[in-house]
Amino acid sequence: MTKKIIIDTDPGIDDALAIALLCNSPEVEIAAITAANGNLPAEDSLRSVYRILSFLRVSEKPMIGVGRDWPRTADDARHIHGNDGLANTYLPAFTRQTAEPASKLISSILTGSRKPVTIVALAPLTNIADALDRVEGKTKLERIIVMGGAFHVPGNASPVGEFNVFHDPESARTVINSGLPVTIVPLDITTSIVFTVRDFDVFSHSKAGAGKLARMLLPFYLQAHRRYHKLDGVHLHDPIAAALIVAAELFTTKKAWVDVETEGEITRGQTVIDDRPFSPKAPNVDVVTAVDAEALKNFILARLAEE
Ligand code: BDR
Ligand code: CA
Repeated sequence: MTKKIIIDTDPGIDDALAIALLCNSPEVEIAAITAANGNLPAEDSLRSVYRILSFLRVSEKPMIGVGRDWPRTADDARHIHGNDGLANTYLPAFTRQTAEPASKLISSILTGSRKPVTIVALAPLTNIADALDRVEGKTKLERIIVMGGAFHVPGNASPVGEFNVFHDPESARTVINSGLPVTIVPLDITTSIVFTVRDFDVFSHSKAGAGKLARMLLPFYLQAHRRYHKLDGVHLHDPIAAALIVAAELFTTKKAWVDVETEGEITRGQTVIDDRPFSPKAPNVDVVTAVDAEALKNFILARLAEE
C-alpha cells in the first residue's frame, strides 16, 4: 500500500530535489505540498513549488498550501539557493492551482483522511506548528519526519543553530514537544554524506524530469558550498530526510529526549539532545543516529536519475 504524505517545504535546491525524489517514488502518494517561509518568503517558496511541479510535469496534482511569513525578520538563504530559490533558473510555472492557507490544509487532511498521513517537513516548522494548533480531536497522523537540528556538529545558521530550527525555534519546540510521533533527521546525518561532481555524472544524459532538474540546479549549489562551507561537494539535506519514508531500512534511529533553546542570547535555536546513558528524561522523539551512507547516496542518485 502506498504511503500518503504531505510535503512542507521552502524550495530551495535541496527541497526541489527532495520533491523530485518523492515524485519518482511509487511508494508514496503526495496528497499536498505546502510552502513555508524559510529559504525564501512563503509566497516565493510557493512560486518555486509551482515551478518544480511544472518542470516535472506532475500529472497527479497534489493540493497546494502556503504559509504565513513568520518570523518576518529572519534571514533567507538566497545566497545558497539563488534569488528564485532554484539556482537563478527562473523556470516557467504552468501549474498554478489555488493555494489554501497551509495550516488549514494540513489540519483538514490530518483530520479528514481515511489513510494514515506522514508529514515530511523540510522547512522551518511554522506551518506544522500552526496546523497542530488548529487540530481538535483525533487525527490520522502517522509520523512527522523533520529535517532539522544539529546535535554534535556545528550549526549552519549560527554556531549551534541548524537553519530550519534556528529560523523559527518556537515552532520547532512546539512540534518536538507535541507528543506526536516525530523523527528528526539532523545535520549530523545530512552532513555525513557529501555528493561530489563525480556523483553528478549520473545526470549527464538525463533529458527530462528529476535528473535534468538536478543537472540544472546542482552547479549553483556546488558553488555555494565551495564558497560558504569550504566544501568541494554538496549536502543534500532534504532528499536524505525524504528518503527516510521510502528507504527506511537504510536508517538507524533511537528514542531520545530533545528540546529547543528559545531564550539563549547566543544559543537561541540550538537543539539539545540528552545522550546521557542514565538520562532521567523521558524520550519525546526518534532521532536518526546512523545511515548506510554508500547505499543511501546510491539510492538518492538512482531515484533522481529516473525519468
Ligand atoms: C535546511 O536548511 C535549508 O536551507 C535546506 O533547504 C534544508 O532544509 C538544512 O539546514
Ligand atoms: Ca528546506
